[in-house]
Amino acid sequence: MKKIVVFTGAGISAESGIKTFRDSNGLWEEFKIEDVATWKGWNKDRSKVIDFYNSCRRQLKNVQPNDAHKALAKLEEKYKVVVITQNVDDLHERGGSTNILHLHGELTKARSTMDPSLVYDIGYEDIKIGDKCDRGSQLRPHIVWFGEAVPMMEVASNMISDADIIIVVGTSMQVYPAANLIEYVSSNAEIYFIDPNAINNLNRKIKTIREKAGIAVPELVNVLLKNA
Ligand code: OAD
Repeated sequence: MKKIVVFTGAGISAESGIKTFRDSNGLWEEFKIEDVATWKGWNKDRSKVIDFYNSCRRQLKNVQPNDAHKALAKLEEKYKVVVITQNVDDLHERGGSTNILHLHGELTKARSTMDPSLVYDIGYEDIKIGDKCDRGSQLRPHIVWFGEAVPMMEVASNMISDADIIIVVGTSMQVYPAANLIEYVSSNAEIYFIDPNAINNLNRKIKTIREKAGIAVPELVNVLLKNA
């Protein structure tokens, strides 16, 4: 079976009703990164940080996976598939994909501020000031903030370098080290890039599809299933 790595960003969840970060009207126009997605912000006002992620989590509870998430799950019928996502939502899981690596964490989990190995499933429940880990420290969102290491990078780069086909969907490729992953793609691999605003500056031979994920992903999946 050929191996496919799908690398996704906020754009794949846009048609489910979740705002992207950098499009006009995106989340980073409404909130300051340093206030809600850094340690500095946490130390300054942890309630603000907790409220931000609580509201994202509440929204997540009420949205559904779209045709792009669902189509990717079908690829598993004929390919070995890994979804490497920068998204902290759970729409790939709910869309049916079974092998998912979250580079930037998960909204449905909380972790200890004292011991990063203590991670808890919280589903769609709020985190509250005073919620503690088993060692007694405040719980924080299980999100990789700016300035923090991305612990899954090595696993992700190994997966990418081993893939026959790469499908990149809905990412501005502006956030490092995640955007660097493309550098690990083998020279024989086929790369597809689906994004209505895709700028192909990746210095690789890439099939760019300037279209929304909900349309382009199911179409590409159909072609790949036929050709498998
Ligand atoms: P961005 O908001 O930077 O980029 C979203 C991309 O989705 C843009 O390139 C849009 O053109 C594209 N897009 C919008 N609607 C789309 C649609 N319907 N179908 C397909 N593409 C569409 O989001 P990311 O690249 O995911 O990190 O951002 C990367 C990281 O920056 C995030 O994981 C997050 C953020 O800060 C953390 O919070 C740690």
